[in-house]
Amino acid sequence: MKYFRSIIHFAKPYMGYAWLNIIANVFYALFGTLAFVSLMPMLKVLFQNATKVSSRPEFQGLGNVGQYGEDLMNYYITQQIETQGELYALSWMIALVISTFLLKNLFGYTAMYFITFLRNGVLKDLRNEVYRKTVALPIAYYSEKRKGDTIARISSDILEIQHSFLSILELLVREPLMIVFTIVAMLLISAKLTLFVFIFIPLSGFAIAYIGKSLKQKSGRVQKEQGIFLSIVEETLGGLKIIKGFNAQGQFQERFESSTRRFFRFSNKLMHRQSLAVPISEFLGILVIAILLWFGGSMVLVEHSLAPEAFIVYMGLAYNILTPAKAISKASYSVKKGNAAAERVLEVLTTESNIKEPENPIAKRDFNESIELCNIRFRYEKEWVLNALSIKIAKGQTVALVGQSGSGKSTIANLLTRFYDVQEGSIKLDGKDIRDLRIKDLRGLMGLVTQDSILFNDTVFGNMRVAKPDATEQEILEALEVANAKEFVLALPEGLHTNIGDSGNKLSGGQKQRLSIARAVLKNPPIMILDEATSALDTESERLVQDALDKMMKHRTSVVIAHRLSTIQKADLIVVMSKGKIVEQGKHDELLQAKGIYHNLVKMQSFQ
Ligand SMILES: Nc1ncnc2c1ncn2[C@@H]1O[C@H](COP(=O)(O)OP(=O)(O)O)[C@@H](O)[C@H]1O
Ligand SMILES: [Mg+2]
Repeated sequence: MKYFRSIIHFAKPYMGYAWLNIIANVFYALFGTLAFVSLMPMLKVLFQNATKVSSRPEFQGLGNVGQYGEDLMNYYITQQIETQGELYALSWMIALVISTFLLKNLFGYTAMYFITFLRNGVLKDLRNEVYRKTVALPIAYYSEKRKGDTIARISSDILEIQHSFLSILELLVREPLMIVFTIVAMLLISAKLTLFVFIFIPLSGFAIAYIGKSLKQKSGRVQKEQGIFLSIVEETLGGLKIIKGFNAQGQFQERFESSTRRFFRFSNKLMHRQSLAVPISEFLGILVIAILLWFGGSMVLVEHSLAPEAFIVYMGLAYNILTPAKAISKASYSVKKGNAAAERVLEVLTTESNIKEPENPIAKRDFNESIELCNIRFRYEKEWVLNALSIKIAKGQTVALVGQSGSGKSTIANLLTRFYDVQEGSIKLDGKDIRDLRIKDLRGLMGLVTQDSILFNDTVFGNMRVAKPDATEQEILEALEVANAKEFVLALPEGLHTNIGDSGNKLSGGQKQRLSIARAVLKNPPIMILDEATSALDTESERLVQDALDKMMKHRTSVVIAHRLSTIQKADLIVVMSKGKIVEQGKHDELLQAKGIYHNLVKMQSFQ
């Protein structure tokens, strides 16, 4: 119930609809019961069994309401038959039956109509909230999670919540009311017989508890497996070239099939357990009905204390009570199933980001002096990746980070942008700890160009607007110009408005890279962080991209992580890193003269 309450929280904005639903349901349950009771006068006429009542009965308080109702009914039937004949009376009684059934269904529809807004509204809000959280969670969260798992939570888990949890909302009012009204009607017809119905309640409670026991656990496994196979699909689509190129279809097919096999097994178990619900409660129900038939039958045949038509209606009501009872027992399984899904969704929503916004952020929208890494230590897991490292980058400078792969260069870029936080020491922007700035302000000051250019399935225009949502075509063209990308973009079939495919795959590597540079240019931040922005390119496009980068870095402060040393000779400071430490630093010429590690690195590359 814990999760159910948290989910119900999302229904708050739709409480108006909930009230309308409740009101409609009260009438639905009322007319649902009356619909059966209304069969009684019709049967009376048919069986010619109406006691003649020629004077209108007096109302004598609620205690005798059953007798009063029957007398009143008999009085009207007597009148009708005497003045208009039996067939005429029958047609009136049939009209009564039709109109109560009509009203019942009308209110039933109305109730569903209103609750639909609530159900789908909760679905929508929950999805929006999970999406917001998905983006807000730190990058680190996803290095351990499968993407498909996140996709499963936002799609099928939330759908399961809507399906199972919220379907009980519509039962919550309607079915209990239906039971109450029906029991009242049954009590009015025969109190003695009604006592037997209560046998059904503990019996079915027992059955429900038995079936529901393992349902949550089973459902949790099914939902989790869904995440796994979505992950496989996601990875397969992302790596199609490698899968085909390495003839690895078989491996992936096997991986996928082992997941669907598990899904097959788990969901078979789940559904088998679930399918038990209806037959068991129906069979228990019919046992009760059999008992009623025996006792009621003897009341009609032997004791003559119950009229046959009253007994027929009574049996109808007793059977009718099974429907809501069944619905309630089904709903209780639904809650168990929904619980598993809700747990997974709420897990995302309640995960605290370990990249915290400061409580009292320092307002800072500009960059004036320097960025400083002060004696920082950082690790992703157990091993220190950066160890007691200090670098000062003055405004306007270009600082290059070089060193073997794995030496911690990209990690520095991750820390500057606060994708991760340092464990010891601090990073200061104009003397202020970046953890005291609003994350949005900090990132607003930085432009990021990564090695694998990340583009979206949209037009060039749409991709550029990621950096600046209100950019005009003119501004975008200017940024493309700086990035040496204008020419090729304008040559595309629809220019700026050409769709560039999934992750920009309709473009070449160099073109993608220039677009992501143009995107950073358009943002126009004072600080640029370039993480191996040219290392994936051939010489020709590297020249174009390098030229674009040089233009972009002019008048800016830049941190350049470079694989090819030829690209950073002009840097104001070259920092040579090894295993998370600075081993050398200085300008290109100084470092060459020192004949140290940098000298060796340059020598090795010039042989290539
Ligand atoms: N998300 C991560 N989780 C755990 N370890 C990581 C992660 N990213 C990088 N590392 C480790 O940190 C070290 C430095 O990586 P990185 O900064 O990417 O190196 P570089 O960019 O210099 O090649 C490597 O040993 C790498 O294995
Ligand atoms: Mg790197």
